[in-house]
Amino acid sequence: MKPILALNAFDMNDAAELGGALEERVRQRAKLFGAASVLFYDRPLEFVRGEGCWLYDADGVAYLDAYNNVPSVGHCHPHVVEAATRQMGKLNIHNRYLHQGIIDYAERLLATLPAPLSNVTFTCTGSESNDLALRLASNFTGGEGIVVTEAAYHGNTALVTESSPASYKHGAPPRRVRVVPAPDSYRVPQERLSDTFAGHVAAAIEDLKRNGIRFSALAVDSIFSSDGVFADPPGFLRTAIDVVHRANGLFIADEVQPGFGRTGASLWGFQRHGLQPDIVTLGKPMGNGYPIGAVVMRPEILDAFCERYGYFNTYAGSPVAAAVGHAVLDVIEREKLMENAMRVGEYLKQRLTDMSARHPEIGDVRGAGLYIGVELLRRGDGSPAPERAATIINKLRDRRVLIGAAGRFGSVLKIRPPLCFSAVHADHLIAVLDDVLTEA
Ligand SMILES: Cc1ncc(COP(=O)(O)O)c(C=O)c1O
Repeated sequence: MKPILALNAFDMNDAAELGGALEERVRQRAKLFGAASVLFYDRPLEFVRGEGCWLYDADGVAYLDAYNNVPSVGHCHPHVVEAATRQMGKLNIHNRYLHQGIIDYAERLLATLPAPLSNVTFTCTGSESNDLALRLASNFTGGEGIVVTEAAYHGNTALVTESSPASYKHGAPPRRVRVVPAPDSYRVPQERLSDTFAGHVAAAIEDLKRNGIRFSALAVDSIFSSDGVFADPPGFLRTAIDVVHRANGLFIADEVQPGFGRTGASLWGFQRHGLQPDIVTLGKPMGNGYPIGAVVMRPEILDAFCERYGYFNTYAGSPVAAAVGHAVLDVIEREKLMENAMRVGEYLKQRLTDMSARHPEIGDVRGAGLYIGVELLRRGDGSPAPERAATIINKLRDRRVLIGAAGRFGSVLKIRPPLCFSAVHADHLIAVLDDVLTEA
């Protein structure tokens, strides 16, 4: 398996090929950031400005952003920027004082989630949300066994890294974390997908038990983004969640990727499966670039946790975070971004599917709303084609269209633009991708 940070990453061994100011800048950064420095693309990019679905370099050259889901309502959206700066100029303190803004935002957010999930705790990142969710689950169930999918990425704290197989360059998660195959709708027939995935989860829970490890939770990203984007058939997750509940475990829905309308039909990815999670974790698109996250859960789960621990997060749920959170929801509603994600996502998927007839190396086009995966295959044996995916991503970059890679092998093109992506943007992406695939 390819670690997530190795996908589409610049190789420092190639720095000399860059030459000039770019080489100098890349080396300067590598010297400062050391081994943890990761840059995208064979020729790293430097941007100075963003607007809508476009990123601009210092020469004013525009790149179509079909990759970034954090600026979900569009880069530097004026309504969000204005809300943040206005509140920043007025008051910004931690949340141990009353502030109506965060109360109103909590009410607004909770109203979008199933009624039993009626408590929210704010965080600053998706990693913090998942860290707290794992602790809540463990405390509530008395177990420490976690089940995740094989290329899952849930964040960067110690606890969450252990539950993120995609973070490992060598070795594997500890014994209390069980890794199951992703619900690969391309390789498993759709009519068997639900039972197959549930069977893997059941076997993992059974194996934990056999080894004397009590089961705590199944944590999944409900669009399976780093696993390669698996959205269909809707409802396939239900059988696995029944298995989890029968084993007295909790279901943690990680909405850091699919949340806030990306999948089009619903605000939350788990709703595609007609499910009610025990804990929902939020992050990235929640603040359109401002660091805000949340954990939403049934009150008894939080009550049990608070009997043993306190939880305070200095920057979480501040007046500025609340103002930004409100503004993002305003834009999603006012600009009908879910409807747009649905309409443009379907259009783009159809155009990609049509294109696959001309390009047999496209094995599958899948996804929901504006989260689309394109599975690339080797021409000879039909096996996953990660090198080809890397080549295509870099050629697109050279033509100023930005996408990324996903999947266990890194062979899936990941198309995940801001939700203001239009049919005109989609046509541009298709035209450039068609050219790139047609080249040798
Ligand atoms: C599914 C999922 N969960 C959690 C996270 C962690 O979020 P953050 O990097 O904001 O801490 C990520 C980040 O990529 C993610 O993709």
